[in-house]
Amino acid sequence: MKSVIDVVDLTVGEIDELIKIACDIIENPEKYQDAMKHKKLATLFFEPSTRTRLSFEAAMYELGGSVLSVSSAQSSSAAKGESIADTAKTVSQYADIIAMRHPKDGAALAASTNASIPVINAGDGGHCHPTQTLADLLTVYREKGGFENLCVGICGDLKYGRTVHSLIAALSRYAGIKFVLISPKELSVPEYVTEGIIKKNNIPFTETEFLEEAMPKLDILYMTRIQRERFDSEEEYMRLKDSYILTPDKLSGAKPDLSILHPLPRVNEISVDIDKDPRACYFKQVRYGKYMRMALILKLIDEAEKDGKTTVRGTHIENAVCKNARCVTNCERELEKLFYHTENGECRCSWCDTKID
Ligand code: NCD
Repeated sequence: MKSVIDVVDLTVGEIDELIKIACDIIENPEKYQDAMKHKKLATLFFEPSTRTRLSFEAAMYELGGSVLSVSSAQSSSAAKGESIADTAKTVSQYADIIAMRHPKDGAALAASTNASIPVINAGDGGHCHPTQTLADLLTVYREKGGFENLCVGICGDLKYGRTVHSLIAALSRYAGIKFVLISPKELSVPEYVTEGIIKKNNIPFTETEFLEEAMPKLDILYMTRIQRERFDSEEEYMRLKDSYILTPDKLSGAKPDLSILHPLPRVNEISVDIDKDPRACYFKQVRYGKYMRMALILKLIDEAEKDGKTTVRGTHIENAVCKNARCVTNCERELEKLFYHTENGECRCSWCDTKID
């Protein structure tokens, strides 16, 4: 059973195919209107969402299918203490595919190992958000015609911003990509992304705190929100919340064909005055998210007819525990604590990729 937990669960070839299908859906929507007739998507959202849940649901309806929805943890048996594993086994009895959002890193992987239907990760804590990346990729593709030789600036909360981690993982597979990572020091990208993805793929990158200084080099500027809900201290959030506010004057040094993306929601990091700038792509990006989710649902349900099962890479190591307090293994007691070794001999948690000493 193919599930999409991390964006690299999809090969570059599969992403090309999804982009092709999404573009065909945009051109010929009527060809797809009954493609998922009698199929059901379950959206299990244990964290707030507007775009991701609604775009999954709109996607399934536009494919002629139907939707079962849990829109908050409080309205499901999670509030009574049901485990992710049992929820996944239960929902597998009703639906053909699951899209799941959860506050714990690794939660979607935990669901996929227990579900008998494909699971799509719609955001697991501060870890990954592969389908936002599919929306981002279609936007870049339609704006720039491809992914090679782009200088991509990513700005804001690069520590907790799960869309950032998935976008970096996806773009690191294309030739000539460069990253400029713009954040306060406290919110820089996690070590598993710099070491495990960027450096491993020999991608040139710089880290800076200064957006305007980076601006002239950028082909893409990916703005993100400071992720208030993931901070341990409200005081720290208050100190960092206005780190970057993109206003028209800050674009004075930017390329005329810069593309400005944002996964949304925006709080205040992009002034509404930017919305009318032709370089602002974030509302198009919302629409593209629906088409990529349509393409993904089509592909996964098609593949689910062929057999297979999600397995977690890794082995049990006596007494080893994941030190990431947000890791799913720290709340789902029955999950086996598994670890894998990277090519450079590091040991990482199989569920959330945190390095273990
Ligand atoms: C993002 C998320 O949930 O991670 N939103 C989204 O899905 N479009 C970004 C965010 O919440 O800041």
